[in-house]
Amino acid sequence: MFGLLLIVVFCSRALALDNGLARTPPMGWMHWQRFRCLVDCDAYPDECISEKLFKTMADKMASEGYLAAGYEYLIIDDCWMAKNRDAQGRLQPNATRFPSGIKALSDYVHSKGLKFGIYSDYGTKTCAGYPGSHGHLETDAQTFAEWGVDYLKLDGCYADLDDLEPGYIQMGKFLNQTGRPIVYSCSWPAYQEPKGVKPNYTALRETCNLWRNWDDIDDTWSNVTSILKWFSTNQDRIAEFSGPGHWNDPDMLIIGNFGLSYEQSKAQMALWAILAAPLIMSVDLRTIEPKFRDVLLHQEVIKINQDALGIQGRLITTINKIDIWTKPILPKGDKGALSYAIGFLSNRVDGYPYRLNVTLAQLGINQSENYKIQDVFDPMSVEVTQSEKIFVRVKPTGVVLLTATPISAKQ
Ligand SMILES: *[C@@H]1O[C@H](CO)[C@@H](O)[C@H](O)[C@H]1NC(C)=O
Ligand SMILES: *[C@@H]1O[C@H](CO)[C@@H](O)[C@H](O)[C@H]1NC(C)=O
Ligand SMILES: *[C@@H]1O[C@H](CO)[C@@H](O)[C@H](O)[C@H]1NC(C)=O
Ligand SMILES: *[C@@H]1O[C@H](CO)[C@@H](O)[C@H](O)[C@H]1NC(C)=O
Ligand SMILES: *[C@@H]1O[C@H](CO)[C@@H](O)[C@H](O)[C@H]1NC(C)=O
Ligand SMILES: *[C@@H]1O[C@H](CO)[C@@H](O)[C@H](O)[C@H]1NC(C)=O
Repeated sequence: MFGLLLIVVFCSRALALDNGLARTPPMGWMHWQRFRCLVDCDAYPDECISEKLFKTMADKMASEGYLAAGYEYLIIDDCWMAKNRDAQGRLQPNATRFPSGIKALSDYVHSKGLKFGIYSDYGTKTCAGYPGSHGHLETDAQTFAEWGVDYLKLDGCYADLDDLEPGYIQMGKFLNQTGRPIVYSCSWPAYQEPKGVKPNYTALRETCNLWRNWDDIDDTWSNVTSILKWFSTNQDRIAEFSGPGHWNDPDMLIIGNFGLSYEQSKAQMALWAILAAPLIMSVDLRTIEPKFRDVLLHQEVIKINQDALGIQGRLITTINKIDIWTKPILPKGDKGALSYAIGFLSNRVDGYPYRLNVTLAQLGINQSENYKIQDVFDPMSVEVTQSEKIFVRVKPTGVVLLTATPISAKQ
């Protein structure tokens, strides 16, 4: 019996990437969704992809509460590079837009208490056509380590589908060999899944700290719902591979930009929390409206996302076009009964907040007889048995986010 237990522990350890990083879903800021490949600094000096943009965002992350809330990685996406490698074959930044170099920018980001992330691509070119890492993996891993990179997003444009998995595994080895702990964000499923190729999620979990599963997010609510649809449709296949150190990644938060209403922003935040998704903002932190900033900084929602169990939530049922998702979280009650986050996501567009009732038992939350229910966005608290009806009102394309915590006795 004891021997069997040891074997189980040993096996489960061998199953995941062990670089000690991303024990909870990574949180940070990345430029892509908001700033794309805007490189015209003459026309858009404050918005172009340049060291100035990243320094300003680092300042805002540190001074406006984002870092304190947990958003620690500042990540550069595509379009930072010069069109060619240097004489030694190393990647180099565009010298006009990054006159101080990447090491200096990384030092600046670190001086703010943040961690520094960068982008490259496994193929022969990046998605925007800059130099790819193909044939240069070891050099690039070393260059990133020398620059003080803490997080690498490795994209998969301009690569052979068959070559992706072995290539990403190889890059993972080179990153490990640098001796510098670097969060490794992979993209190979995002290239395989849309082509109908089922990625090897066991290999992903052994290789990467997080991976993009599906299509890129643009600035629109329909993208949020289609990503959620993909995650729920595929949850039985992918959810189990998420956990401390290795996460499914539904892509960036688009909160605070142009496409989502306030209610839809709360919905994205709540559902990304339930999915244990990486929380990577992509918004102009200089101009974001305070109410959207408050959504991004919402402590209780972040706490659900960062829950130490690291369990990816699931869609449990849909009632009258309201999707009901649950995620087991801490604390535990008597006899190990778990707490839960419960998200009610409305796919309705008709008029008033839609009234709905469910019991916890109906959602499979039945390990304790009594629970304390709390509303995360509209603070209120009530105690129920697992078979008592709970009533919620869900706004059109909005969310209600509850937590259910086991209590030993109804008070
Ligand atoms: C640097 O970026 C600018 C656009 O901002 C571009 O015109 C220039 O050719 C780039 N330089 C190199 C060396 O790639
Ligand atoms: C490299 O891999 C080994 C074995 O998984 C691990 O113990 C170590 O922490 C890794 N080092 C880095 C820098 O990622
Ligand atoms: C998936 O990857 C794992 C771990 O690398 C390996 O043991 C397994 O054989 C792979 N499965 C398939 C179907 O290739
Ligand atoms: C986002 O919307 C765009 C425009 O409709 C579409 O091309 C893209 O495939 C969508 N992505 C996702 C993840 O739904
Ligand atoms: C509870 O919801 C069901 C549909 O799920 C509905 O038939 C019933 O009338 C509701 N009960 C109350 C008291 O609103
Ligand atoms: C608790 O819920 C699960 C999932 O719905 C169900 O399989 C199980 O039978 C329930 N247990 C009890 C005691 O009702």
